[in-house]
Amino acid sequence: TLHRHLSTSSSSGGIERMTVFGAGLMGAGIAQVGAQNGLKVILSDVTDQALQNGLQIITKSLGRVAKKKAPDDIEGFTREIMANIETTTDSAKAVEEADLVVEAIIESLKVKRDLFGFLDTKAKEKCIFATNTSSLSVTEIAESCGQSRQANFAGLHFFNPVPAMKLVEIIRTPHTSDSTYEALRAVTTRMGKAPVTCKDTPGFIVNRLLVPYMLEAIRMIERGDATPEDIDQAMELGAGYPMGPFKLLDFVGLDTTAYISSGWREKAAQGQISEELVRPIPILDEMVKQGRLGRKSGKGFYDVS
Ligand code: CAA
Ligand code: NAD
Repeated sequence: TLHRHLSTSSSSGGIERMTVFGAGLMGAGIAQVGAQNGLKVILSDVTDQALQNGLQIITKSLGRVAKKKAPDDIEGFTREIMANIETTTDSAKAVEEADLVVEAIIESLKVKRDLFGFLDTKAKEKCIFATNTSSLSVTEIAESCGQSRQANFAGLHFFNPVPAMKLVEIIRTPHTSDSTYEALRAVTTRMGKAPVTCKDTPGFIVNRLLVPYMLEAIRMIERGDATPEDIDQAMELGAGYPMGPFKLLDFVGLDTTAYISSGWREKAAQGQISEELVRPIPILDEMVKQGRLGRKSGKGFYDVS
């Protein structure tokens, strides 16, 4: 029977069609959980190759989900959910009918602002725009759009790996309207996520606490206090973390972590975060320079395949 594997949920704040920009790690995951929960999803990226990469990430992840949810019909399960996802490199077309746009492209203020400025002229007036930025100011990204869109603009921060992590942070700017906020709460709940709310401050909630913790762990090995293996074991067995800080650094990407921390040094100058927390760390910068980026490059603090 058709749609046998899809969750059918009623309320999603009027959002039925979601367009996701960026078919990388995060965008693919966001598209997947939308499709799994019955949204009509368009996934858009700049090249066909990037789109193929995104579809591959989704197929692999759906295989894991299917093993639990539909062990006797893995192929049927995957096919049914994939039928909710279309792909295109045409960004204007991608948003023509969208109720919600979620942007998960590279972490660059300029590139994000260029994309949203363009989409503002192409999307329906009521369409909600959301960014999955980890570390940039949502308000500054939203200012690329006209005033009425800024009321329909918020941060929607998912966590890696998206299909497994239940949290989503909804970030309100001073301009985000109550109805936009409520619609985002409804649609993320429909997507199986648990939303929390935060003001537009550096790192929101999770990264504001997690990034300084990971940086402090690197400073411990810089001082020779303990080995990465022992620090990871300590935090896993002594504090109940699923991954110690070095496994997590390899998982998130050392380049991403270095990028977040250097971006925040500018915010520190404006008094938004303490300078001490984001002091440069020579080991981290050196590893990034050598291409030891963690899981994505096969080598970080650990050799990973
Ligand atoms: N697709 C679908 N399902 C997945 C998945 C994927 N890519 N990855 C994991 N899962 C599912 C598994 O199927 C499993 O489901 P069940 O419990 O229903 O069986 C569950 O997640 C746990 O997975 P595993 O048993 O394979 O492995 P694990 O117990 O070691 O968990 C993990 C893996 C969920 C990644 C866990 O190690 C973890 O929580 N790690 C910490 C991750 C984290 O902190 N992420 C946040 C990073 S910071 C960030 O994202 C913000 C930013 O801006 C940088
Ligand atoms: P990624 O490098 O895996 O994917 C980015 C994708 O965006 C690529 O496929 C690229 O081709 C595409 N892209 C670049 N410019 C584009 C444009 N103008 N239009 C359409 N697509 C474009 O990156 P990622 O790890 O998925 O991160 C995406 C966003 O999510 C970033 O803002 C990042 O900070 C944020 N984020 C990342 C994590 C994480 O742990 N990796 C967690 C939460 C949030």
